[in-house]
Amino acid sequence: MATIIKDITLQENIPQNILFEKHIDFIKEYGQKENNFEYAMTDYLRISGMYWGLTALELMNASPPHTIEEISDYIKHCQDPESGGISSCLNHDPHILHTLSAVQILCMYDNLKAIDVEGVVKYVKNLQLPNGSFTGDKWGEVDTRFSFCAVATLSLLNRMDAIDVNKAVDFVASCKNFDGGFGSRPLSESHAGLIYCCLGFLSVTNRLDIVDRDKLAWWLCERQLPSGGLNGRPEKLPDVCYSWWVLSSLTILGKLHCIDANALKKFILACQDTESGGFADRPGDIPDPFHTVFGISALSLLGNDTVQKVNPTYCMPQHVIDRLQLKPQILDN
Ligand code: FPP
Ligand code: ZN
Repeated sequence: MATIIKDITLQENIPQNILFEKHIDFIKEYGQKENNFEYAMTDYLRISGMYWGLTALELMNASPPHTIEEISDYIKHCQDPESGGISSCLNHDPHILHTLSAVQILCMYDNLKAIDVEGVVKYVKNLQLPNGSFTGDKWGEVDTRFSFCAVATLSLLNRMDAIDVNKAVDFVASCKNFDGGFGSRPLSESHAGLIYCCLGFLSVTNRLDIVDRDKLAWWLCERQLPSGGLNGRPEKLPDVCYSWWVLSSLTILGKLHCIDANALKKFILACQDTESGGFADRPGDIPDPFHTVFGISALSLLGNDTVQKVNPTYCMPQHVIDRLQLKPQILDN
């Protein structure tokens, strides 16, 4: 049976460069829309949304729309004094994803003192299960993305001693598939987003030895479509956020040279909204901060020197990772 390739056709007149001014305005305005419907409907994303927007601005060398004190104060009020975890916004339950986003933001601004760091360490430690996996919150769903969030958070806080790292590695290793990829749980389908989480996890824990490097790099390169864009799984459409999940993974594996960089750059630049600013998942779709930070970060990995260098493991500016003296494992070419 023939494989059907789902793809898009790029239009003419693709921008040649990053539309900095438009993206900076887009992100800054997105953070100000406190009274609109979209803002009200996305409160469950707020702190992660701040991480996407503020990271995008920093990578574009732009200043944040609020003072560091205002940003830190908001995060501080989202920390649950009991569990130590941080929630997406005021009066929501804490979650490990927003806890990581909050720590990433505060590390970027060198202001961890705004929160109870020991509370965060306690929260993450308490989410580890006896088999080494992590739940995302008190409701108990297990996923390799939470394993990544746990070690990314603790390594940024220099507190990896708080968890059982060997057991955590055993769990991630048990999610490796026959095709070299990783899924969300043992026997779950390989998915580029989860491959990023597992490689990011193994990069932080210095355990990339468990990866089938060539097999996985081949699977990741297969994600590139004739349009130049990357998808997250076979038979899916290309999406600019997968430029990040796939490229960061290939960078960690030391195999970035295996994809067609020029074709991918063209696809990513075509996802810019030339009117409103911001990047969309695909050309012509509605832009958002999530696809904007991952579009810019992917261009950074491809060597675009008009943006700041991004770290492939943490998706944070490299200068922040250097300041923290972190050296996540990356394989040589
Ligand atoms: C696709 O999700 C993306 C993933 C599964 C990876 C998510 C990564 C994290 C939560 C870790 C934190 C990330 C960073 C950069 C610090 P999707 O649900 O959109 O998948 P779909 O495209 O299949 O719908
Ligand atoms: Zn996407």
